[in-house]
Amino acid sequence: MKNFNNYPIKNKKVLLRSDLNVPVKNGIITDKTRIHAIKQTINYLRKNNNKIFLLSHFGRPKGKFDNNFSLKFLCSTLADYFLVNKIHFAPSLDIQIINKISRTMYKGEICLLENIRFCSEEENNDLGFAKNLASCFDVYVNDAFSVSHRNHVSITGITKFLPAVAGLALSNEVDNLNKLLINPNKPIAAIIGGSKVSTKLSLLNNLVGLFDTIIIGGAMANTFLLAKGFNIGKSLIEKDLVKEANNILRNSNDLNCKIILPIDVICADNLSNPKNINLVKVNKIRKDQMVLDIGKSTIQIIQTHLKDFKMILWNGPLGAFETKPFDKGTNQIIQILKNLSLNQDIIIAAGGGETVAAIQETKTENCFSYISNAGGAFLEWLEGKESPGIKALKENRIP
Ligand code: 3PG
Ligand code: MG
Repeated sequence: MKNFNNYPIKNKKVLLRSDLNVPVKNGIITDKTRIHAIKQTINYLRKNNNKIFLLSHFGRPKGKFDNNFSLKFLCSTLADYFLVNKIHFAPSLDIQIINKISRTMYKGEICLLENIRFCSEEENNDLGFAKNLASCFDVYVNDAFSVSHRNHVSITGITKFLPAVAGLALSNEVDNLNKLLINPNKPIAAIIGGSKVSTKLSLLNNLVGLFDTIIIGGAMANTFLLAKGFNIGKSLIEKDLVKEANNILRNSNDLNCKIILPIDVICADNLSNPKNINLVKVNKIRKDQMVLDIGKSTIQIIQTHLKDFKMILWNGPLGAFETKPFDKGTNQIIQILKNLSLNQDIIIAAGGGETVAAIQETKTENCFSYISNAGGAFLEWLEGKESPGIKALKENRIP
C-alpha cells in the first residue's frame, strides 16, 4: 500500500478523500474529531507544496443537490482549524469549475469540493464519472477509513485512474484496529445503537458468532422489539428489516450469543418538541408514543451484565442523545464503561461519529483503550472483512 514514506507527494494536485460527515445540530458542528483526524495529513501535504482538494460526503442526499447537505458551511471552520486565511470552495464537481479554481490556487492552498453525494454517480461507482473527475488531479489520498466500507467513486472507483495513497489517519486506524482485534480478549460484549438500522442490521448477523453478548439500543432496538411482537408506537423503525431482526435473534440463539434488548424505555410524543416524556415498560408502549431512550431498569441490567467481560466494543448511541433529556441512557452507559475501565483489566473500544461526540461531551476519552472515527466501517472490520477502500489502495498499481 502506498503511503507518505514510500510514496512522497510534492508539488502535486491532490484529491484528499476525508470524512467531513460531522455531527451537526441547528447548523452548529457538535464534534470536530473528524476534522481533527485529517490535520496531520493536511499539514504534510501543505508543507510539501501541494494543492489540496478536499472531497467528502455529508449525510445521505440521495444523488441530488439539497442545500441542507451542502458542505459550504464548513469553509470557515476548516480555515480556523488548519490555520489558513482562506478555503476555496467548488460549488459542484464539474471539472471545468474545479480546473478554473485550481489555476487560481497557490501551492499549499486548500479547496473544499461540494458534497459528492449530490452526484448520483458516486454511490453507483460510475467509472466514467471517476475517470473524468480524476483528470483534474495528479494523485489521490484516502484519509477516510470511516467511509472505506463503501464501494463508491470517491473510495474505490477513483483508484482506477490515479496513484492512490493511504493518508496518515487511515493508516493509523488500520494499525490500531488490527492490534486490537488480532488476539481479542474473550469474552466479548458489543453495545450497538444508533439510527442507521439498515446498514448495521445486516452486519449484526455476521457478528453474532464473534460476540458472547450483544446489547442493542437506539433505533436499532425498535426494529427488534417489533420483531418480538411489541407495539412500538410512532418510533423510528425499518419495517422491511423485521425479518432480518428475527433471523438474528434465531442465529444468536443457535450460536450461544446472548442478545439484550431494552425492557423499559423513555417515550415522548415526538422528538422535535417532545412533550409527555415518560418511562414505560416495553409491553406498555402506546400508539401515540415514540421510543427515544433506554429506561433505568434496562441500564441496570446492562450494568450487571457488563461486569463479566474482557473486551467491550461500542458503536452507536443508546437513545436520541443529541436532544436532551434523551442523552441520559447513553451518558449512563458511558459512566458504566468508565467505572469498568478504572476497576478491572478490560479493553474497551468505541467507534462512530455520534459515539465519539458523546464520549467527547462527557470528557471520558481516557477511559477507552481505543476510539475509532468509524461506525459502520468499524463494524465491518470486526467481521474480519477488508474494507473495499483498503483493498483498492493495496491493489493500486498506478505509478
Ligand atoms: C459515517 O458517519 O459512519 C460515515 O461518514 C459513513 O456514512 P454513511 O453510512 O452514510 O456511508
Ligand atoms: Mg455517522
